[in-house]
Amino acid sequence: MSWKATILTLFPEMFPGPLGQSLAGKALEKGLWRCETRDLRPFGLGRHKSVDDTPFGGGAGMVMRPDVIDTALDSAAGAEDVPVVYLTPRGRPLTQPDIRRYVAGAGVTLLCGRYEGVDERVLQARAVEQVSIGDYVLSGGEPAALILLDACIRLLPGVMGSAESGEEESFSDGLLEYPHYTRPAEWQGRTVPEVLLSGNHAAIAAWRREQSETATRDRRPDLWAAYSARLNRNTTAGSPAAFRY
Ligand code: ADE
Repeated sequence: MSWKATILTLFPEMFPGPLGQSLAGKALEKGLWRCETRDLRPFGLGRHKSVDDTPFGGGAGMVMRPDVIDTALDSAAGAEDVPVVYLTPRGRPLTQPDIRRYVAGAGVTLLCGRYEGVDERVLQARAVEQVSIGDYVLSGGEPAALILLDACIRLLPGVMGSAESGEEESFSDGLLEYPHYTRPAEWQGRTVPEVLLSGNHAAIAAWRREQSETATRDRRPDLWAAYSARLNRNTTAGSPAAFRY
């Protein structure tokens, strides 16, 4: 059976959305992954099928009820033991190693919140992973779920061409990528770095590494610190992070 995304949401029509196009869309058609949505609304309570209620302690907005989410999660639990991930700005930052871990399993169950979020107790009770895609607040978890899935799908076996996936493995160290250039060699008075036209593969590799390191140091001190710490720990046998941003 192919890799399966199960998405619990009040807006099931948002899926597969953009993931029905391009690389992910073709992979979906080929059956390389499956997209199953669970509408949270039918699990709601009362005449209005309410999924939320006012927060204890007061404050703005509404909170999604733990009992409603619990039953919805029960209905989504299949034979496979897959991680349950709740998309929230309160989560820990989503990283490429998380994506690789999700891809290595049978799939993921994604819980998309709206309003102020989900009652904390159901997240604790069901050992739900809480993940954020960045330090900004979206209107709901759905766009974040689409992003998480996009990052997973491109790594599934058979989705990317062997050329692209090969590159992922060979430049693997947790640095930002070096800059890219193509024709024309001169554009609006701007030229391409000379070394890239030299045909000297060793010099090109050295230039690219230096560019990667400089960009990472300048733009992402957090990644640079992790990279430097790894280098210091492994001065003889390196164990690089298995990705490049
Ligand atoms: N839901 C709302 N904002 C989010 C974010 N930054 N990451 C993940 N889920 C979210």
